[in-house]
Amino acid sequence: MEQNLEGMVIPRHVALILDGNGRWAKKRGLPRTMGHKEGCVTVEKTVEIAARMGIEYLTVYGFSTENWKRSSEEVGALMQLFRYYMVRLLKIASANNVRVKMIGDRNRFDKDIIEGINRLERETKDNTGLTFVIAVNYGGRDEITRAVRRMAQDCASGILKADAITEETVSSYLDTAQMPDPDLLIRTSGEIRLSNYLLWQLAYTEIFVTDCLWPDFNKEELEKAILAYNKRERRFGGVK
Ligand code: IPE
Ligand code: IPE
Ligand code: MG
Repeated sequence: MEQNLEGMVIPRHVALILDGNGRWAKKRGLPRTMGHKEGCVTVEKTVEIAARMGIEYLTVYGFSTENWKRSSEEVGALMQLFRYYMVRLLKIASANNVRVKMIGDRNRFDKDIIEGINRLERETKDNTGLTFVIAVNYGGRDEITRAVRRMAQDCASGILKADAITEETVSSYLDTAQMPDPDLLIRTSGEIRLSNYLLWQLAYTEIFVTDCLWPDFNKEELEKAILAYNKRERRFGGVK
């Protein structure tokens, strides 16, 4: 079905839980890692589509703090893919005026990956189009815990006054400081849960779940989500 986005409000910040790579591969009798490989291609395409649509921020969940529980083969394959796509992403970001940012605790990665992340951020920081945020070794609880730790340190050293801490202060200590909260969260492959994603930031986000497996996600699926978003009435606790 052709979707018509004319006259629609394009959400400023779209957050994505790209789930279902493993199931996509299983359906085809392929190893899970093939699903991840195909999923990376879909990420690249989605970045280009989102940039063209005029979305300002696209935040994707690439690897959670809990994903280390998977087999060493799978984690290793994900790290290799990560290495490869960081280089490709540098080209795609430059070609599409995309600024790349990573959230999550990067310190747990190998040194070359940390350097790759830093380079990607450094070399794309002046791009003025879409901000593409990748959550890697990211967990909402871990992010809040790290923020609380830094706030406590700043209180102890006198930079921060405990009585003066507001919701804005907390936001500014998170990895997403300076970013608006997501307007729309899309999760692929049917699971209706947050899996520790952006726990603070999703407080009033509209949620859209599709059965589509991540490697099959495309422009039509994104448009479906945006159409659904446009039918929602966002009340933020008030009355309309
Ligand atoms: C999402 O796909 C990618 C990552 C979590 C890295 P999954 O690997 O979770 O795929 P399913 O959920 O097993 O199908
Ligand atoms: C969430 O997917 C994490 C990412 C997409 C990176 P999972 O597949 O890890 O989540 P659960 O285990 O189904 O909750
Ligand atoms: Mg999954």
